[in-house]
Amino acid sequence: QVATWDVSAAEKGGYAHFMLKEICEQPDALKKTINPRIKNGLPDFSECGLTDEKLRSYHHIYIVGCGSAMHAGMVGKYVIEKLARTPVVVDIASEFRYRDPLLAPDDLVVIISQSGETADTLAALKLANSIGADTLAIVNVVGSSIAREAKMVMYTLAGPEISVCSTKAYMVQAAFMYLLAFRVAYARNAIDEEQCRQLISELSQIPSKVQKCVDDQTQYQKVASKLISADSLLYIGRGLDYALSMEGSLKLKEISYIHSESYAAGELKHGTISLIEDGMPVIAVATQHDLYEKTMSNIKEVKTRGATVVMVCSEDMKFDGNDVDYPVMLPLARDLLMPLVAVVPLQLIAYYTAALKNFDVDHPRNLAKSVTVE
Ligand code: G6P
Repeated sequence: QVATWDVSAAEKGGYAHFMLKEICEQPDALKKTINPRIKNGLPDFSECGLTDEKLRSYHHIYIVGCGSAMHAGMVGKYVIEKLARTPVVVDIASEFRYRDPLLAPDDLVVIISQSGETADTLAALKLANSIGADTLAIVNVVGSSIAREAKMVMYTLAGPEISVCSTKAYMVQAAFMYLLAFRVAYARNAIDEEQCRQLISELSQIPSKVQKCVDDQTQYQKVASKLISADSLLYIGRGLDYALSMEGSLKLKEISYIHSESYAAGELKHGTISLIEDGMPVIAVATQHDLYEKTMSNIKEVKTRGATVVMVCSEDMKFDGNDVDYPVMLPLARDLLMPLVAVVPLQLIAYYTAALKNFDVDHPRNLAKSVTVE
């Protein structure tokens, strides 16, 4: 008898690609990663031995990774600095390992990696260990080289990620950054217990907001249909939105092969705005209310120069319909938590752009899921 089923389709559970499946798994991955790390309403790092005493003792915190993992670290920097008022340096592993970093034994180096096997990230970890710094690895693959090498390890519980383009692993890495930020801030008395509990309770509501974003995908398909003919586009944002636009830009270029750059919105006028011409898409991320007016003025700048503007923003934000061609409205959350929500449309816009172009979404050219050589 000849089998009539398709094993690979079965593994994708009815989804056209693993990437889409993994995007849709994010609410679940978030719950699996966050929930076990909450004890009595507070973030809990006791499983790896990261005590409040240690968190109070570190002089500097470094966050090191590659690709999307490093982008999750960018979110971590903003959130830790904002809440804990503790300086954080984020570095690309291949830069960190060769730049003779100013590391000392009383520093903490947080290493982020989905696979736990990325050669540059592993080398950065070994360097940090050799200097005597404390090292905490946030890894998805159990028993991987980075997990074994680090002094402390905590696992993101996203399950296997098959698509080369990372989505759910980034999501849970970013969520971990929040848990860490809350605990650092609490340990250092920058927030009190009540504030910490409140933040944790709001973080726990994020999976349902992510679910809302994946439930109706028609708007992302519509945006994607406007991007497929572009040669190049820009992502802009400020603060946390800038950190997020880096991830959005990476997703798009990885799988759709459209050149894109992310830019701090306020920096456009120092050169990049000269690239804007009629019909060039600009994807503006605007979820931070305190920066909204500023980002909006940058949107007007690109719009008057002919850009087609997609704006990913919180659902309560008001704008003039003449300034924005395609608004993508997000369910509300505290501004600080918005990256976890806003990344979903960016993933899905990238996904549908590549899918509409009929590219091999799960296996983009020239890329590997795990880069174990330099
Ligand atoms: C590769 C993947 C990226 C990933 C990066 C870091 O380039 O294609 O999606 O973000 O490696 O991988 P890691 O396993 O260390 O998170």
